[in-house]
Amino acid sequence: MKLLVINGPNINMLGIREKSIYGSKNYKDLQEYIKMIGKREAIEIDEFQSNYEGEIVDCIQKAYQVYDGIIINPAAYTHTSIAILDALKAVNIPTVEVHLSNVSKREAYRQISYVKEYAIKRYVGLSFLGYEEAILFLKKYLGEKNENLNN
Ligand code: DQA
Repeated sequence: MKLLVINGPNINMLGIREKSIYGSKNYKDLQEYIKMIGKREAIEIDEFQSNYEGEIVDCIQKAYQVYDGIIINPAAYTHTSIAILDALKAVNIPTVEVHLSNVSKREAYRQISYVKEYAIKRYVGLSFLGYEEAILFLKKYLGEKNENLNN
């Protein structure tokens, strides 16, 4: 099982940006946290972060037939990017949407999520734990999918 974690713009600024919303841990801490979960769960996990919409689209396209599942925090592109939604639909890889903050309780412009339309699961407001939940969810989901294929 191979998973890809994609983080969008300004996630690399964790630990500096709006600490009261996003906490004091930095992006390196998040990367290490995800690595640690991957090791613990014996899952191969790659991580990608970009501030550019097109690079995120490229990354999703390259995931085709390489990864079994995607975990994505598109950050601000969540609320604007049909291109990211279309890329996810194109590669047709089971995807979980994650947000560190509870977007559903924030500004009106954060209530829209284009990715939500495609994601099979969504975790918001759980900080780093949201990524762990997403990994565990995909592990179970993909495991069950394989079992059904083998029966
Ligand atoms: C975010 C929420 C978005 O609205 C915001 O633009 C981000 C981070 C989150 O993880 O809570 O950059 O995706």
